[in-house]
Amino acid sequence: MKVVRTFATSANLGPGFDTFGLCYEFYNEYAFEVSLFYILEGFDSKYSDPSKNLIIQSYEEVFKTLNKDIIPLKITQLVQNIPTSRGLGSSASCIVAGVLMANDILENILTKDEIFQIASRIEGHPDNVAPLIFGGFTCSFKNEKYHTIELSIASDFVFTLCIPNFELETAVARSVLPKEVKMADAVSNISHSVALVKAFETNDLELLKIASVDKLHQDYRFPLIKDSNYFINFAKENNAVCMISGAGPTILLISQEKLHIEKEDWLIKELYLSDQGAFVYEK
Ligand code: HSE
Repeated sequence: MKVVRTFATSANLGPGFDTFGLCYEFYNEYAFEVSLFYILEGFDSKYSDPSKNLIIQSYEEVFKTLNKDIIPLKITQLVQNIPTSRGLGSSASCIVAGVLMANDILENILTKDEIFQIASRIEGHPDNVAPLIFGGFTCSFKNEKYHTIELSIASDFVFTLCIPNFELETAVARSVLPKEVKMADAVSNISHSVALVKAFETNDLELLKIASVDKLHQDYRFPLIKDSNYFINFAKENNAVCMISGAGPTILLISQEKLHIEKEDWLIKELYLSDQGAFVYEK
């Protein structure tokens, strides 16, 4: 049976709003096979209607883009780790899963860059899709087309994801952001983003503490995340850096030592980075 594996991702990483992304070894898996009509198995009832399922919408988008007749699938969710609406790239996971299924059914008709272009267009921003497709630590952006720069990262850092039991829709987390930003804030994020790349590359936690300052989104979003102050203070007291993962509400703590943290209603998970992106394999 053919299976697609997709990974959880953290977008933004402090100053790299809509730009940086990390890919974790924490995955979903979906088996897929050609069928006479769409069948979804093993999905939460919220996602089990084929006409509203983001994997199928993304799958069909490839056929439409290439002007090909759609071939329905039976899709079975085998592994569900990535929680939805938590800032861990669950929608990018569905989109990339659908695009990779279509590419496989169409006998690998797309290049990796074409997969990235289609998936980013569906998502509307590339910062989760890029690490999910290319793995590791990425910088992505759009001018005439979407671009990804694959950046190097020393994997000695410990990545602790603090995942709450409540959801935060990306649209809500974007609605609280200002429409315009001050020049000084833009300058601050440009310089801090460059410093963050160097801190990741050289495994320098002290530089990462300085580099993680963000002026564009986190201060507007922390108030939407109940208990976020607990994690901000925990990071200060435990030699760690605290960031919002994507649009939240998951909080990412980066440290050099393993962190011992417990908080009621929050799932605490230490994750390793995945240097490979999503892929299809024969099980
Ligand atoms: N860069 C996006 C945001 C990630 O912060 O809104 C969410 O998908």
